[in-house]
Amino acid sequence: MQQINIGMIGGGTVGSGVFHALQHKGALMTSRIGVKLKITKVAVKAIDEPRPYKIPASVLTTDWTSVVNDPKVQVVIELMGGIGLAKKVVLDALALGKPVITANKALISECGPELFAAAEKNNTNLYYEASVAGGIPIIKSMREALVGNRFTHIYGIVNGTCNYILTRMKNEKAEFEAILKDAQQHGYAEAEPSLDVDGLDAMHKTHILASLAHGFWVDKKKILVEGIRSISQTDIQFAEKLGYTIKLLGIVKETGPEKAPKVQISVYPALIPQHHVLANVNDVFNAVFVRGDVVGDTLFYGRGAGKDATASAVLSDIADAAQDIVNNTPRRVPAFVNYGAQAAVLPSDEGI
Ligand code: HSE
Repeated sequence: MQQINIGMIGGGTVGSGVFHALQHKGALMTSRIGVKLKITKVAVKAIDEPRPYKIPASVLTTDWTSVVNDPKVQVVIELMGGIGLAKKVVLDALALGKPVITANKALISECGPELFAAAEKNNTNLYYEASVAGGIPIIKSMREALVGNRFTHIYGIVNGTCNYILTRMKNEKAEFEAILKDAQQHGYAEAEPSLDVDGLDAMHKTHILASLAHGFWVDKKKILVEGIRSISQTDIQFAEKLGYTIKLLGIVKETGPEKAPKVQISVYPALIPQHHVLANVNDVFNAVFVRGDVVGDTLFYGRGAGKDATASAVLSDIADAAQDIVNNTPRRVPAFVNYGAQAAVLPSDEGI
């Protein structure tokens, strides 16, 4: 049976989660896909940095180039985060014709066109299931299981930190600042929370979903982004009295004539009718509501972050990349195709 050797860049929370998950689930995956999978090298910032799961010193290195350039490494996983060096890692690996797996939503959203063009040029793939909504298999579902649909509406609760804060504000009748501070103390929110609470993280994820749905990358200047900092207890209580719950939503809508539709992307704290399924997605959970023109309404729910849920998504990409190598089908993933849609300038104010 063929073995696929994998190199990983980044051995922190998610990286060590992936290493641990493959150690424990590798045999199960092999029995399912008929390929042996092994992480042979992991590049880290410091060999002895603390990590939630142990990675043996024998596979660790501080030199990422020795992982990407190792001729025995056939698949590269980028889990270092950020955009500068991570972009170089991904482009270098793609240039060598190696499939790349990443969980890096900022990188995919900011540099998507360049990265996917590099993958195409080198006849390989960039896999990014873990970049949106952690363990929820939303990328593969939209790209493959729902490939026969046009996506008219997507509503996503895709930032667990914001959902956790809004849930607690509602339950505890407390203000944003107090809950944020407590969430930071207990490790539920980052010390520097602005990527999450100002909506940028949700924007990156929503941008990625829109590109999958409509086959082109909407200019980010055309995306409305508003976070949750300004939500007060008064807002939450008025919303409740009127029969609504406030959730930070990433919204992608197709409007206009079918032959020349407009695509609107927005991220903002939205009023959701209490009877709507999204109103009942609480705490750190994520959910993505997708309306396809063939399938109708679908809902994807689960853990949107965390080392194990994210590792589950990376394992799915590992299985795909390995099978594509073994079957010699390097470009099996359906292509991005724009069917004529354009970005709309302003988001609509219609409700859901
Ligand atoms: N900061 C993100 C969240 C982590 O709160 O959802 C997962 O992307």
